[in-house]
Amino acid sequence: MGLDFGGGYRLRAALAEDHAGLNMVCLRTGDSGKDATEREDDPDLLGLIYAVPYQVYEPDFAFVVDGPNGVCGYIFGAPDTPGIYAKMAADWFPPLAARLADPGPDESRWQGSDWARYAIRHPEFVYPDVLHRYPAHGHIDLLEEARGRGIGRRGMEHVMAKLRRAGATGMHLQVSPVNRGAQSFYRKLGFEVLKDEVLPRHTTFMVTGL
Ligand SMILES: CC(C)(COP(=O)(O)OP(=O)(O)OC[C@H]1O[C@@H](n2cnc3c(N)ncnc32)[C@H](O)[C@@H]1OP(=O)(O)O)[C@@H](O)C(=O)NCCC(=O)NCCS
Repeated sequence: MGLDFGGGYRLRAALAEDHAGLNMVCLRTGDSGKDATEREDDPDLLGLIYAVPYQVYEPDFAFVVDGPNGVCGYIFGAPDTPGIYAKMAADWFPPLAARLADPGPDESRWQGSDWARYAIRHPEFVYPDVLHRYPAHGHIDLLEEARGRGIGRRGMEHVMAKLRRAGATGMHLQVSPVNRGAQSFYRKLGFEVLKDEVLPRHTTFMVTGL
C-alpha cells in the first residue's frame, strides 16, 4: 500500500533493491540535514548505520518516497527499540566492522568517514529508562526537491499510525541539536524535547505519545 502525494511523489514500501537509493538519500542529508558528500570518503557508511538496517529488520515500517527523478526520501519506524538494537548489535554491525579499517579512538586523528568507521565498530544504542514510555523510534530524510510539500507530515503520520496499530504507545527521535528546521517539523507533529541527564548531549531527543 502506498500514498500518493501528487506531483509525481509517492510513498511506497522500501525494498532490498532500494538500498543504494537509501544510502544516497542518507548521504545527501547526513550533515544535520545538509549534504554530507564532501565530508565523507565512503559514501555508503551513513546509510548503513541509519537507513539500511531499518529496511532489513523492520520492513513493514520502512518506506521510500519516489519522485519524478527516482528515490528522494525515506521514512523508517521501529516499534520495539530494544528489539531492533539487539539485532543490530548481534547481526548487523559486526560483519560490517570486520571489513572496515579501525580508525582508533583518537578523534583528533579522524578524517573523512573515520567517525562512521568508529561508530560501526563501537555502536551507541541509547535506550535508558527515561525513554521506555516511548518505545518506538524512527528516522525521516527527504532530498531538497521533496521538501515543503507536506510529504514529511503525511508520511510520518502514516508511519506513526502503523506503529500505534502495532501496539507502540510512544515514540522517540534523535535529531542534531543544530538541525532547528527538523526540530520545528517534529514539534508540528506533536513531539517535544526530552531533557534528562542520562541522555547524551551530542544529540537532541524528541518524544510523543502515539
Ligand atoms: C525535516 C523534513 C523531514 C520535513 O519534511 P517536509 O516534507 O519538508 O515537511 P512538511 O512540508 O510536511 O511540513 C510539515 C510542517 O512542518 C513545518 N516545517 C517543515 N520543515 C520546516 C523547517 N525546516 N522549519 C520550520 N518548519 C518546518 C512546515 O511548515 C509544516 O507546518 P504546518 O503543518 O503547520 O504547515 C525535511 O525537510 C527533511 O528531510 N529535511 C532534511 C533532512 C532532515 O533534517 N531530516 C531530519 C533528521 S533528524
